[in-house]
Parts: sequence; structure tokens; C-alpha cells
Amino acid sequence: MTRQQKAQALLQMDQQEVQGCESCVLCQQRTQTVFGEGDPDAQIMFIGEGPGQHEDEQGRPFVGRSGELLDKQIKAMGFEREQVYIANVVKCRPPDNRTPLAGEVDACWVYLRRQIQIIRPQVIITLGGPAAKLVLGTKEGITRIRGTWHAYEGVDPPVPVMPTFHPAYLLRKYTKENRANVWSDLKAALTKLQTHTR
Ligand code: URA
Ligand code: SF4
Repeated sequence: MTRQQKAQALLQMDQQEVQGCESCVLCQQRTQTVFGEGDPDAQIMFIGEGPGQHEDEQGRPFVGRSGELLDKQIKAMGFEREQVYIANVVKCRPPDNRTPLAGEVDACWVYLRRQIQIIRPQVIITLGGPAAKLVLGTKEGITRIRGTWHAYEGVDPPVPVMPTFHPAYLLRKYTKENRANVWSDLKAALTKLQTHTR
């Protein structure tokens, strides 16, 4: 698909399916859905957990405090936010920012799966435990699996996945070690980009 065709397919899914979605209870308390945004033909795709208050208000992913940090990380990688794609496991804000429940994650997975299929990034970076668990189909905790290469097998060829900590976790535990670990994960993703051929 060309970038134009990808953009069209994403827009159509958002407008015709996601915006009116009532497949799980998260539809009840949302202000609006947060589909995701960025370059439809991005090399790098970030996958977070779900909208928080600011995202719910603005309809855009990662626009709060976590988003500020993510923006810095993207810049440090040598990219602009517009050059990557940013999505979430669930498209509607869980009440009180609780972790999405298994049933909600399952209900929303159809959309993220198709987003990955359309965008076909060269690398996926999952942010935090829920995204890693879902995309990799694993029960392993994020502390154990971060920093190690995995793959998303739902497309052919599979997409390399680097799980890292969520920006919100990093903000809560802003230690030298955590920061170094996340930066090392992001650098590994960059290296993979440079050596990866479609
Ligand atoms: N945290 C997330 O996981 N996603 C967002 O979009 C914002 C904060
Ligand atoms: Fe639909 Fe996903 Fe929102 Fe649930 S979280 S209502 S599945 S868009």
C-alpha cells in the first residue's frame, strides 16, 4: 500500500468503526475515542496502554505528561513525532486510569492488529506491561522482557518488537538505571532500523 492508501484505510477504520465503537464498557465513560496518529507509513510504531485524561479530552494519544517524555525520547532518536506512529492498546480511557481489563483489551485488539497490518512498521516499541503482553502474547512481566528482541507474528514478515518501560513508569521512578535502560532499548530499536530491510 502507498502512504496515501494507508492513510485512507486508517481514517476509514477510525471514522466508520472506532469512533462509534461500543464493543466494551469503556465506551460508557469516554469523552471520545483516541485512535492513534502519526505517519501512516512510519518505520517506528509506539504502542502505549490507553488514553488518560488529557488524551480523552483531546482525542489524541500521549499529549499529557507521559506524552511530553515520549516526545523527548522520539526527538532523542532523531525523529519528529509526525514521522512515527503512536497508538494504544485500548482506544477509550479506562476510568481513573486503571489498567484495562482483559475483556476490554481483547475487544479492542482487532483495531490495533489492523493498524499494525496497515502501517507495517519496521520496528514496534511497546510501552509498559499491557502493550508488551498483548502484542507478544506473553504473560512475562515487563521488567523481565524489556530490552530483549521479540517479534509480532501477526503479519508476514513478522515485525521486530522491543518492549520498554512506559513513560509514566519512568516519570514515577526517574532513576539513573531506568533512564539508561530505556535509552538503551530505544537505541537498540534504531540499530534494528538501520540493519532491517523490508
Ligand atoms: N498513556 C498511554 O499509555 N497512552 C496515552 O495515550 C497516554 C498516556
Ligand atoms: Fe471499542 Fe476499544 Fe473503546 Fe472498547 S476501548 S469501546 S473496544 S474502541
